[in-house]
Amino acid sequence: MKKSSPVSRSGRFNSGPAADVAEFTESISFDWRLWRYDILGSLAHAEMLQQIGILTKAELSAITKGLDAIGQEISAGKFRWKPELEDVHMNIEAELTRRIPAGAKLHTGRSRNDQVALDIRLWLRDQLLQLLGEIRSLQSALVGLGEQNRDVIIPGYTHLQRAQPVYFAHHLLAYVEMLERDYQRFFDGFSRVNVCPLGAGAIAGSTLPLNRELVAEVLGFVDEKGRARVSQNSMDAVSDRDFAVEFSAGAALLAVHLSRLAEDLILWASSEFNFIKIADAYTTGSSLMPQKKNPDIAELTRGKSARVIGNLVSLLTLLKGLPMTYNRDLQEDKERLFDTADTIRATVRIVAAMLQNTKVNAPVCAAAASDPALLATDLADYLVQKGMPFRQAHHVVGAVVALAEKSEKPLDQLTLAELQSVDKTFAADSKEIFNLQKAMARRNLTGAPGTREVAKQLARWRKQLR
Ligand code: ARG
Repeated sequence: MKKSSPVSRSGRFNSGPAADVAEFTESISFDWRLWRYDILGSLAHAEMLQQIGILTKAELSAITKGLDAIGQEISAGKFRWKPELEDVHMNIEAELTRRIPAGAKLHTGRSRNDQVALDIRLWLRDQLLQLLGEIRSLQSALVGLGEQNRDVIIPGYTHLQRAQPVYFAHHLLAYVEMLERDYQRFFDGFSRVNVCPLGAGAIAGSTLPLNRELVAEVLGFVDEKGRARVSQNSMDAVSDRDFAVEFSAGAALLAVHLSRLAEDLILWASSEFNFIKIADAYTTGSSLMPQKKNPDIAELTRGKSARVIGNLVSLLTLLKGLPMTYNRDLQEDKERLFDTADTIRATVRIVAAMLQNTKVNAPVCAAAASDPALLATDLADYLVQKGMPFRQAHHVVGAVVALAEKSEKPLDQLTLAELQSVDKTFAADSKEIFNLQKAMARRNLTGAPGTREVAKQLARWRKQLR
């Protein structure tokens, strides 16, 4: 074997790969970022190899020191990655072996197939834990903005048409609920990431008496009782990327939630709505129109959901035709996965920061919420309270709205005589219906935008997010 040929090319090959083949097949240009996890996995594997008598204590100590030194060099940007060594696994192992002869024993009972599955799982575990914290911060930012504007009422919309009044905080808390489901989904997915595949080998385990549980315990692949969690089928272990799909699916849904929030913010920041003002630091200008202040962060949040959704579709497509077990196609999982994690985490963080730098235009919101038509349903409920069947009440109030439109008056300016001209059930107290504060106090079902209920929900979230 030529000294420079990659470690994966054994005595079977007469030559190294052609230059264009090496270039086409390499993954080091992107999987180098798994280095920390690759070293962690190797340290645990080496510790186990010593325990079962394959490495001497001196060899283990040399390998440990060697891996630590390589780790420090990588971290300091001093390590030279060699594309001809294909991937992060072989780069580190080849360099270790060049420095320390015992390095040649490290790959005992291990394949890059179970190694790469391990590295991705270790990496994803960290990503998930950080993302969970970032989702919590975003929820806090939403709750905070709601608390600062707890008295602000806005029209709620269906079909983007004014429907019924809601507290601004109630609208924001809808997103807090969505984010909570995202949080729970990722939290739940963690348990399926947190399984150790090492020991599955290339496909069929090993004839050597490896201690899989020990490796799992060292790497923290344990359940809540501290018991090792190892994969139960070697073929599944090396070909499974379900955990990556689950993460990508959770991220795609989270991205969709962020995109919808972004759309609301973009609408609210427009001159037409003018409900909010995003601080200058979180907006951008136009290169041509001097007056422009654009909500580019929100627009990019909406835009970036496209690539996160695309990455999910890529992964599913990557897997759908694969025969058992490991196939090189799987190398294509990493860029999609990295891009999803980077994109979704950056987006969650910047949206939280933008919300912390957003002010609500309370007078404009109050003017919009004072539209009496928002309380047309309350007027129908009033008639229902007087004993009228709801279908009839709906029809009567429809006629009242038509009358107001015809007489070019807001709904609440019709006289009692005018109301009674439509239906005799209307009494003097019917005008009370248009008192917005009282209307908000009436909505006290669980989950409704009533004064007491929204205060209760804000307090519940504040406590939960502490
Ligand atoms: N670079 C490969 C990947 O990312 C590592 C595993 C390669 N295994 C192999 N038998 N060629 O999936």
